[in-house]
Amino acid sequence: MYPSRPSRLRPAPKPKKTRRLLVLALFLVLAIVGLLLLGLLLINNGNDHTLMSNATRKSSSNFNKKKHSLNEPASVWVVINKQLALNPAGYEPAGLVTPAMPLRLAAGSMEMLVRSDAVSALEQLTKEAETQGVRLMLASGYRSHGFQKNLYNNYVKTQGQTVADRTSARPGHSEHQTGLAIDLEPVSRKCEVEVCFGDLTEGKWLAAHAHAYGFIIRYPKGKEAITGYDYEPWHLRYVGTELAAEMHKQNIQTLEEFFNLGAAATYKP
Ligand code: DAL
Ligand code: ZN
Repeated sequence: MYPSRPSRLRPAPKPKKTRRLLVLALFLVLAIVGLLLLGLLLINNGNDHTLMSNATRKSSSNFNKKKHSLNEPASVWVVINKQLALNPAGYEPAGLVTPAMPLRLAAGSMEMLVRSDAVSALEQLTKEAETQGVRLMLASGYRSHGFQKNLYNNYVKTQGQTVADRTSARPGHSEHQTGLAIDLEPVSRKCEVEVCFGDLTEGKWLAAHAHAYGFIIRYPKGKEAITGYDYEPWHLRYVGTELAAEMHKQNIQTLEEFFNLGAAATYKP
């Protein structure tokens, strides 16, 4: 008898060793996939933690927003806008001095005076700018209630009330009356009190460095509905280095937003 032929349809059974290897490989693949998923989960958790700690850091910033008064006219943080008038309206600051820097008018003229608290910061800013080839000049500092009244009325006469209210504060509502507001211009007087100042080297330098000396650009571009005024790249407000640095750090440009005071687009009726 011939030995019977093995069936071609039935595969020969795999040896036990091969099967064990297959099971081991499958186990390894599953273990690797599992580890990868765990890794992804941990990374994601880590990100959540980073985001959370950033948010916590921001909200729990120990900056003391009550350190100085926001309504005392002599306070370095006083907020004056269309909603918040100077009190008293005819307030006159003490300690006004002429800074040692290029001046538009004769030393001692009213508009060439600034509050003594701001003077050394302004002189330092001007000197540092000069070392970098940026020559800045004081265009207008302190303005009394009477002076602001004439200025505003002239704007109304020449440009109409709507335009005047976007560019000039009514008497009793100007930061210039505190001696803490400072308009700067290039020594060349190019773009004097004009928006194009922001595009000049001098305007760009100011926007980038003012905060380091305790100043903010008080009427920034895009914040007209909050400040109530057109963009004024030349108008600095001294608030001190602590507040200017904090606003810069938090990327908050206006005092209204920083202190949650609400918009001041219009005057009270
Ligand atoms: N130009 C600013 C708003 C002022 O008159 O005080
Ligand atoms: Zn100004």
